[in-house]
Amino acid sequence: MEDERYMMRITDRLTGLAFGGDYNPEQWPPEVWDEDIALMIEAAVTMVTVGVFSWAMLEPSPGYVDFGWLDDILDRLHRAGIAVDLATATASPPPWLVRTHPEILPITRDGLRLYPGSRQTWCPSSPVYREAAVTLAARMAKRYGNHPGLAMWHVGNEYGCHNAHCHCPVSTVAFRRWLAKRYGSIGALNDAWGTTFWSQRYRDFEEIHTPRLSPTFVNPTQQLDYARFSSDELLECFRAERDVLREITPEIPITTNFMVMQFSRNLDYWRWAPEVDMVSNDHYLDAADPEAHVELSFSADLTRGLAEGNPWLLMEHSTGAVNWQPRNTPKMPGQMARNSIAHIARGSEGAMFFQWRASRAGTEKFHSAMLPHAGTDSRIWREVVELGKLVANLAPIARTTVEADVAMVFDWNAWWATELDSHPSTDVRYLDRAHAWYRALWQHNITCDMVKPGESLEGYRLVIVPTLYLASEAAASEVGRFVKSGGTAVITYFSGIVDESDHVHPGAYPGAFRHLLGIRTEEFVPLRADQTIDLDIGGKADVWAEYVHLEGAEAVARFVGTPLDGWPAVTSHRFGDGTAWYVATRTDSSTTMALAHRILTASGIDTAEYGSDVEVVTRSGSGGRFRFIINHGAEDTAIGVAGHDLVTDRAVRPADTVAAGGVAVVHEAPDDGDD
Ligand code: GAL
Repeated sequence: MEDERYMMRITDRLTGLAFGGDYNPEQWPPEVWDEDIALMIEAAVTMVTVGVFSWAMLEPSPGYVDFGWLDDILDRLHRAGIAVDLATATASPPPWLVRTHPEILPITRDGLRLYPGSRQTWCPSSPVYREAAVTLAARMAKRYGNHPGLAMWHVGNEYGCHNAHCHCPVSTVAFRRWLAKRYGSIGALNDAWGTTFWSQRYRDFEEIHTPRLSPTFVNPTQQLDYARFSSDELLECFRAERDVLREITPEIPITTNFMVMQFSRNLDYWRWAPEVDMVSNDHYLDAADPEAHVELSFSADLTRGLAEGNPWLLMEHSTGAVNWQPRNTPKMPGQMARNSIAHIARGSEGAMFFQWRASRAGTEKFHSAMLPHAGTDSRIWREVVELGKLVANLAPIARTTVEADVAMVFDWNAWWATELDSHPSTDVRYLDRAHAWYRALWQHNITCDMVKPGESLEGYRLVIVPTLYLASEAAASEVGRFVKSGGTAVITYFSGIVDESDHVHPGAYPGAFRHLLGIRTEEFVPLRADQTIDLDIGGKADVWAEYVHLEGAEAVARFVGTPLDGWPAVTSHRFGDGTAWYVATRTDSSTTMALAHRILTASGIDTAEYGSDVEVVTRSGSGGRFRFIINHGAEDTAIGVAGHDLVTDRAVRPADTVAAGGVAVVHEAPDDGDD
């Protein structure tokens, strides 16, 4: 990632933070554009994303390009002082491309061809799609590379949202090519896939298929490699467009909007992030989750991890309801602002939305927007205008970075591998423990960085390793090194079990972490769907238990009741100068919270200041420290710090309050910093 490029260019066009959203003027007659721009000015919009789904409008027939309308809108936006994040428009090919090349349509694992009529109807390995997309991107770059309003390129859109997996003949050949590159020889592949099992031994790559529908479970390493391949194929599509943009417009930063959120696991973003000039992300709440704001924080922290701690950009979120969940409930008053400010607190250089004006037609007509169907006489519009002012006031935090003492190891390979079939229990889900432990930290007002397995953990005091089922030797050693030199690690069940090829680490469970944890698991005991198990420290657990032998560790909690009565449920082990904890069961939320409290205290991390509904994050830089206090609760809360509140533009003392549902961003007075 070339952070410098981003900073250099974006700050030319934007002072402060970005505020705006996807703008689809092609859905409206030009008369509406004047009103759009006037209202954007009213809402203090600084940047819009244009052209994401406009391929069919820009290239109405093969080779014929109509840039007229886009020229016009870009000029209007520029005159109004609004920067443009310009899409290469390649997310969804026009019907004519599919008509002339039906082979670009993806095929599902059970052999069904997916037809046009929605979006992203293309196979990630299709050379026809790639060539057409790169040609359009090059045309866009030549046409708009020198446009003074162009702030950055937005390549494609949410790669892999709908078309991550294709099993067509072209994909099959591409998969074989990818495997040949990964393994070098068919023998190496046979070893890695363990093909002596079930008579799966291959003589050459031509015999291999993508993991199609088969009579029963497909080889797990084949499935895992296919997930890796699918992510890489889309990355190649991104790279192809990016390279041509870089060649023609080397000074314009390039992004593509990631989908780091609970609904999305198709791409290995650790591999994607170094390829963009600036990480940007889309995030949507699960309307059914009463604590969706905690998942928001998790995703924002993970996005910051991908950006290696550098500023990133929230490219899309919603002002209210979406249209694609079973029940699309609106946001409550104030919730949109809290969501936007939470992303900014966690490193986003602004808050962008899908979309500017609610569509009249199409699938997303009931999706909320900055300008809803109800028009300007609406709560959403009033809140958008207010938020625009607030984001403008936050200009001093631009380019500051987020402070964190705690890290979590997160991995897409582990996610894919954990959720493969033929495992001890289908109830073990990768995000479950990650979210549970993150939530316990969040409720203690602790900010958490997200780290790729194997990356240095130096500088943190506590590291959480949730469900790292797939753990390389390198990843396990780094956790070991961290603990040895005085850190505290918490490792949850079904971690350290297999290597990168999904082969069980030799010896007893939890293989890669066994010595660090000072334990030996003899056997897993997945629980029935409705079964719970008591713990001697109080509280209950479900889903999972194990027969754990202590080999140097001590039992902090034990199971109560048959068949595990008296067996260790939570252990802790002094290792070098630090401590490694193991949680061998799925503790309920209050037990997880209590354990987190105990571990945080033992690690010397201060937790007490704010209530559990209050989100507190600090960004700092050469201009000082900025404490974000986001009150998700129903009670007012003390602001807890002296300084200048950028939200209200007034001096504050620690005893002043942040109203229920409100936010404060305090530029801390130098003497009151809590360093
Ligand atoms: C995103 C997408 C947008 C829009 C939005 C609706 O997945 O990038 O184009 O569809 O969701 O929530």
